[in-house]
Amino acid sequence: MTSVDGAGSNSLVLGARKGLADDLAYLRPLYPTSDWRSHANFGELANFWLHVHSSLRSEGSEVVRIVNAYRGQEIDRMQLQQAFVPQLNSFLQHLDHHHRIEDNVYFPKFRLLDGRLIAGFDLLEADHELIHQSLVQTVAHARELLAALSQTAGGERQAADTFAGRIEHLLKLLQQHLGDEEELVVPALLEHGEQALL
Ligand SMILES: [Fe+2]
Ligand SMILES: [Fe+2]
Repeated sequence: MTSVDGAGSNSLVLGARKGLADDLAYLRPLYPTSDWRSHANFGELANFWLHVHSSLRSEGSEVVRIVNAYRGQEIDRMQLQQAFVPQLNSFLQHLDHHHRIEDNVYFPKFRLLDGRLIAGFDLLEADHELIHQSLVQTVAHARELLAALSQTAGGERQAADTFAGRIEHLLKLLQQHLGDEEELVVPALLEHGEQALL
């Protein structure tokens, strides 16, 4: 029996799970990843979905690259501030916007396609809550880093290390979520066609 709240099993909770169980990703064996793009039902929505995920991965990695450049003394505090703020804001806004559309528009439609999809999309929606909690913590540590950078009292190195730990945790959760979501969304689009989601 599957559980998305961890009451019966923590193995499915984002941060603990290694992937989706076969009963949740029941269409996965029928639609191997390598065949997705050549399938007749692979259309604009699936392509856009994968593109957004790719962009989120890239934007998040860029935030890590910037803060690590500062930690490695490749850039100074002024260069960090200039690069860090717009990149982090862009990443977090895109992430939040994407999850809102999924929760409010697309996930309800997927649940209506087939009752066997409900548990999987409930799990993905629970993922969004955990990712949002991590996002809020990341923002708090970003503010602490910016405050430390604007002061002369020291502490900016420690603040950068702490922030790096938070953003890496957020990206670890996000990577697992994006991959698992693709294994539910794309096979469902190929099985049912994209017209069912419009
Ligand atoms: Fe998602
Ligand atoms: Fe997504």
